[in-house]
Amino acid sequence: MTTMSQEIHHETSYNKDDILEYALKHQFGEIHCKIDPDTGMKAIIAIHNTKLGPALGGCRFIEYKDTDSAIFDAMRLARGMSFKSAIAKLPLGGGKSVVIKPPHAFNRDAYFHRFGEFVHQLNGRYITALDSGTQLSDMDIIAQHTPYVASLTAHDGDPSFATARGVLRGIEAAVSYQLNKNSLQGLHVAIQGLGHVGALLAHHLHERGARLSVADVDQARVDAIVNKLGATAVSVDSIHKIPCDVYAPCALGATINETSINQLQTKIVAGAANNQLAHAYHGQLLHDKGILYAPDYVINAGGVIFAAGKYFHTLEQEVNDKVDDIRASLLQVFARSTRENKPTSEIADSIATEILAG
Ligand code: NAI
Repeated sequence: MTTMSQEIHHETSYNKDDILEYALKHQFGEIHCKIDPDTGMKAIIAIHNTKLGPALGGCRFIEYKDTDSAIFDAMRLARGMSFKSAIAKLPLGGGKSVVIKPPHAFNRDAYFHRFGEFVHQLNGRYITALDSGTQLSDMDIIAQHTPYVASLTAHDGDPSFATARGVLRGIEAAVSYQLNKNSLQGLHVAIQGLGHVGALLAHHLHERGARLSVADVDQARVDAIVNKLGATAVSVDSIHKIPCDVYAPCALGATINETSINQLQTKIVAGAANNQLAHAYHGQLLHDKGILYAPDYVINAGGVIFAAGKYFHTLEQEVNDKVDDIRASLLQVFARSTRENKPTSEIADSIATEILAG
């Protein structure tokens, strides 16, 4: 919950009456709510845009402080998916769903049976997938009711490998653009979070000769990477402050904020976490400080590329090639940022908006 409350902090300041105003302002297509009186399941599916294809986006299963927070979370994430898929050149729109996790006992399987029916009612305009709090077994239950689901046990559905590969390509792009280097040999990378993506990324970077400093709230994960890769352990409060070439946030959202920006001693911010900027204007602050920021939804698109590949039965090589294209997409963002003297985050939004308007 800490993660979520940080991520939605600025969204919850919206007035309760303004959900549809927010939706209109951000050009939403549809917001669907489902309440199942038998099981008590409450779910939201937000579809931002289906211009480029069906709206693919994960299903979150976490607690929310109130219903509005859940709806705003689904909407904000759905819009992010439109942008992410547009820049990744996927034939997909943007959507996201939330099944609200109750604080009391509940029947998980029954919830996901009802949620599967809900997804199916939208006739394929929304395709669901894994997200925070959901697991492959939930997706398998959903698939009993609808074909519109992208992550299944039978798919070998963990997107983290593709995400880590994409983040590596992103770091390579940022290093070549900002530091004028075509190798990661000897560079110092600070990784915040050694979960699915962060740990894989650590291995990739180590293989390429980078020096690693790492932090995680889970000490066992830190110990594993320190022992295996000879990384240096840093406290979770200090990881963003250490002098390094690349800071890779791979844990929480909103870690780039007023306080951390003043403490950063890096030349590049490039990591997997979603919603890294606590507020849009933090992109400008990074730009003003001369720190190159790889916009989160561009660099972490490997996951959705992987999910789309499974859904459309794309060949593995094609999926890998598309993930590798993240490098070119970022170089395009960086070059335009320099040309127009605007933050990379703003440039990425402009490119995505142009594609969607196209
Ligand atoms: P995960 O849950 O496996 O790993 C997150 C790690 O961060 C955990 O090891 C956790 O202990 C650690 N952590 C939590 N709070 C921390 C703190 N304050 N300081 C340091 N470490 C902390 O998540 P995963 O899958 O590795 O994803 C990482 C980030 O990348 C998330 O923001 C996720 O939304 C994003 N992402 C993941 C994708 C994927 O394919 N797994 C795809 C796109 C984005």
